[in-house]
Amino acid sequence: MFGDKSSSPSSFSSTFVLAIVPSSSGRGLGGHGLAFTLSPSKQFPGAEAGHYMGIFNSENDESPSNHIFAVEFDTVNGHNDRADSDGNHVGVNLNSMYSNVSRSAYRFIGNTDQTEDMVLESGDPIQAWIEYDGKFVNVTISPLNISKPSKPLISNPIDLTHIVQTTMYAGFSASTGQKTSSHYILGWSFSTNGTAPMLDISKLPTAPAREKDGSSYDRRVIALIAALSTVTVLLLGILIYFTLYKRNVGSESLEDWELDCPHRFRYKDLHAATKGFKQSEIIGVGGFAVVYKGVLPTTGTEVAVKKITQTQSSIHGLKEFVAEIESLGRLRHKNLVYLQGWCKRKNDLLLIYDYIPNGSLYSLLFDQRQAFVLSWEQRFNIIKGIADGLLYLHEEWELVVVHRDVKSSNVLIDADMNARLGDFGLARLYDHGTDWHTTNVVGTIGYIAPELARNGKASTSSDVFAYGYCSSKSFRGESRSIRGTSSWWIG
Ligand SMILES: *[C@@H]1O[C@H](CO)[C@@H](O)[C@H](O)[C@H]1NC(C)=O
Ligand SMILES: *[C@@H]1O[C@H](CO)[C@@H](O)[C@H](O)[C@H]1NC(C)=O
Repeated sequence: MFGDKSSSPSSFSSTFVLAIVPSSSGRGLGGHGLAFTLSPSKQFPGAEAGHYMGIFNSENDESPSNHIFAVEFDTVNGHNDRADSDGNHVGVNLNSMYSNVSRSAYRFIGNTDQTEDMVLESGDPIQAWIEYDGKFVNVTISPLNISKPSKPLISNPIDLTHIVQTTMYAGFSASTGQKTSSHYILGWSFSTNGTAPMLDISKLPTAPAREKDGSSYDRRVIALIAALSTVTVLLLGILIYFTLYKRNVGSESLEDWELDCPHRFRYKDLHAATKGFKQSEIIGVGGFAVVYKGVLPTTGTEVAVKKITQTQSSIHGLKEFVAEIESLGRLRHKNLVYLQGWCKRKNDLLLIYDYIPNGSLYSLLFDQRQAFVLSWEQRFNIIKGIADGLLYLHEEWELVVVHRDVKSSNVLIDADMNARLGDFGLARLYDHGTDWHTTNVVGTIGYIAPELARNGKASTSSDVFAYGYCSSKSFRGESRSIRGTSSWWIG
């Protein structure tokens, strides 16, 4: 957010006009409230209504991985007696429904210390200002017809360094519970560069009045109004998103040839699947690639996403490379990890594989944190499986696939302890019966066949050499001496 990854969150400023119209008359009868949010996603998965305001749920409340900043306008007494005791309050929340700081709703009169109480759910429009300068957050409220008080209601130091991520969405969330209100946002401006633009108050819509007791509106009409107001807020949110963050995660510029690739994934989905390529989702790091675990938002399936950071020059020839990946996506064998697809974004290439639960053969053999030791039978079954997979690649499929990076860390072990050869990131395709081309020598020290190092020709034979080295490691009793030699890449 707010610029490039390296910069820390600098500042933002927002002002908006809200109106909370309870369904029944009298203070304290409506619920539950409205919140301004900064969040890493447009969705709040699993969010609950009521006190959670559609942002958190009982599981993730207080979790540091939420990365959510919220300013709540709460109209119901807080939960669990821990905080938020006044039902009519404004609070600043980090990752949790428990406010870091909260004040009952009032405004300072002019420049004095005198205050005037305000009722959030009066149904009258209230203007709010939220300003963050990198150190302090100020929250100010006043009735719409009274200009901004010079003293904020809340002025508190907060650190958003661990909250704000590269891309954040600004928006609103509101919820009802047993008590209900209609929550409206009548106008909104937001800026990450200086003070948010003033709102032209004369152009704001008015919130629909509360139904008169005994009126002919039934609950369905109220529900419709509430739904429409949510849609309005969403539209506003999307608008802001497009104007502010278009150049970030949103846009995907595609070249013509990319359009008819059935295995192309949308970057947006991968970004969501890996929670924004979050550190905590990393399941492997090698050479110039990082592997994330992800759950695809569209289907809910678990995948492994390998993010290869390339330089511009190595992207050259990407079209051919992608054509090969499209072919590799058709490989199907019980001892191969299925390559589901790919995605290109700027200098990054992303490859999407099936997620295999038990990790790699390398980690099963050499990671001292592993609780159990593979039996000889299991080891034998695993190397037979790799051989089956390689045979399929070399001889049984329509093209000859030279894997070029057979090694224990590229052999994954599935739930049934069968080997699945993975990582076709370096694979090359040949027609049956053609000569091997000279390529850059890629692979891992120890696994590279002597003739490959000499003539640069990757072939089925050099794969078999690597397979032999991999198998010998699987059967070596004393493995510790090999640690540390295995993740060497040359390229
Ligand atoms: C917050 O309010 C304090 C006190 O009025 C003021 O000194 C400070 O400049 C304000 N900060 C921001 C970010 O508006
Ligand atoms: C931020 O605002 C200043 C003036 O207020 C302007 O000169 C500058 O170009 C703006 N920066 C961005 C990134 O919009």
